[in-house]
Amino acid sequence: MKRFSFDIDVVGACNLRCPSCPQGNIKDYRLPHGFMEPELLRRIIEKARSECKVTGIGLFSWAEPMLHPKLPDLVRIVQEAGISCFLSSNLKHTAECGCPYGCNPFSFRISASGFTQEVYGHSHREGY
Ligand SMILES: C[S@@+](CC[C@H](N)C(=O)[O-])C[C@H]1O[C@@H](n2cnc3c(N)ncnc32)[C@H](O)[C@@H]1O
Ligand code: SF4
Repeated sequence: MKRFSFDIDVVGACNLRCPSCPQGNIKDYRLPHGFMEPELLRRIIEKARSECKVTGIGLFSWAEPMLHPKLPDLVRIVQEAGISCFLSSNLKHTAECGCPYGCNPFSFRISASGFTQEVYGHSHREGY
């Protein structure tokens, strides 16, 4: 069986507008906003596993996963399937609203593009 890892956007939106990302540099098109239901993720994983060896799943690609109100459920679905779950976040939402539930992914990346607000604010536009 072939081995694949997957990057799945479970959220369509982001709270930042980085110029190097479609969330920040596509002007005349609004990316579809929405939240993936846990059941759909479960079905995607089931289908993927029937067709290949799934080596890992990132619940992000070009959006901000921490905006999803059911993110802990989604992480749990991946991990309980015996697959390593990866997250990456700008942490802005978490800083403002807190992280109300325990999330226990295999890996959690925090994207940061500078060591001062001036530099960070350029490449992570609207972030701090
Ligand atoms: C497009 S982001 C989506 C996830 C989340 N919103 C974040 O920023 O971490 C996915 C990956 O892109 C990279 N990235 C994040 N911010 C970036 C930026 N301003 N410019 C270029 N790459 C960036 C990081 O490696 C991050 O893990
Ligand atoms: S924080 Fe992540 S998803 Fe949001 S605009 Fe920046 S790179 Fe794109």
